[in-house]
Amino acid sequence: MPRTLIAPSILSADFARLGEEVRAVDAAGGDWIHLDVMDGHFVPNLTFGPPVVKALRRFTDKPFDVHLMIAPADPYLAAFAEAGADTITVHVEAGPHAHRSLQTIRGLGKRAGLALNPGTPAAMVEPLIDMVDLVLVMTVNPGFGGQSFLDSALETVSRVRAMTAGRDIDIEVDGGIGPETVGRAAAAGANAFVAGNAVFKDGPERYAARIDAIRDAA
Ligand code: DX5
Ligand code: ZN
Repeated sequence: MPRTLIAPSILSADFARLGEEVRAVDAAGGDWIHLDVMDGHFVPNLTFGPPVVKALRRFTDKPFDVHLMIAPADPYLAAFAEAGADTITVHVEAGPHAHRSLQTIRGLGKRAGLALNPGTPAAMVEPLIDMVDLVLVMTVNPGFGGQSFLDSALETVSRVRAMTAGRDIDIEVDGGIGPETVGRAAAAGANAFVAGNAVFKDGPERYAARIDAIRDAA
């Protein structure tokens, strides 16, 4: 079983001070920095692209966990790799050629992630299992921080965990994760936990305590 990882999502950070926010969650013990890229098309919200990822790269040495909620994703994969992404995750729903996207990401020398929306069956991962380093199971509908955790996604997590048994694949959950929900996700088999609101809600003085609370409850 891969190790427990907490990935603060800067979607809930102060966008006017993003560099300092990244530095702060690094210092507070975040294992990965989760970067939510949205295109206003695949999801009903807009965030940022490769130039912002690149600008943030000098604020931390922690891995950048880039979650692409964009369609198509393929035209931008090289730009995110060059910007400093370590893992690049594409949604299986984002186009007909997830296999090609994963191949491209690995070809760029990066870890390849595949994300599933709450309405997408775990079986979608099966034919692609040899192509992934990470499976991201959405525990909310993607697009916004601060939504409520969907328990219905737990079944998907356990199915993916069964599928990945014996392989070195991280199972990440994203959406509504906090000390009250993380235990259920961990019990279902997740080992990487994205948290936006639960880390950032009370300001920088509390980041370390917030991250510790999530890790302790996982
Ligand atoms: C949602 C994003 C998440 C989001 C999670 O579309 O993919 O990473 O930041 O935020 P919380 O933890 O607040 O639900
Ligand atoms: Zn995300």
